[in-house]
Amino acid sequence: MVKGDEAKRVLDIGTGSGCMALALKAENPSWDVVGVDVSEAALNQAETNAIELGLDVTWVALDALDSAAVAALGRFDGIVSNPPYIPSSEVLEPHVQDHEPALALFVPDNEPLRFYNAMVPLVTSCLVSGGCMVAECHTEFTKEVADCWKLEGAQVQVLCDLQGAQRAVRLIRS
Ligand SMILES: C[S@@+](CC[C@H](N)C(=O)[O-])C[C@H]1O[C@@H](n2cnc3c(N)ncnc32)[C@H](O)[C@@H]1O
Repeated sequence: MVKGDEAKRVLDIGTGSGCMALALKAENPSWDVVGVDVSEAALNQAETNAIELGLDVTWVALDALDSAAVAALGRFDGIVSNPPYIPSSEVLEPHVQDHEPALALFVPDNEPLRFYNAMVPLVTSCLVSGGCMVAECHTEFTKEVADCWKLEGAQVQVLCDLQGAQRAVRLIRS
């Protein structure tokens, strides 16, 4: 997604505290930013943070696995997400496991791509031509996510984090 003055519409799926949605809005005041989450508690925190920061973001309670409900939000120039992606049998560091709700972290062991698969239909239903969809992923599943997003008319790329670990996948719709 390109930073700029041109008004854009951006969706943050699994917004949690709203950190990504709020950062995008702070950097791009003309953008219409929408953050969605299934957790009312998370959305309340996001709203509190938005008020403290004086930023106008739209918060919507919905289940991101319900692709039709997401599609009903309309079309977006960009979709960002840091969804739950940790297989439930994976043992985490106590400083993560003890402070994050399980809902924010885990997916069933047999369904590591649960949220990325649910995002596939959004490429045609929600993303404008030239639009960008980017999601953080488990380092062990970036290739699988990239493969499931390899749709006709889309460029897909694995991105690395600052430590050089494969950490995210980006799709650009042509
Ligand atoms: C890893 S946290 C990411 C939070 C924030 N975006 C961030 O990057 O820090 C995942 C978020 O997805 C939300 N979530 C879990 N299941 C969901 C679902 N079915 N639909 C929408 N949001 C969901 C959780 O409540 C949590 O806020």
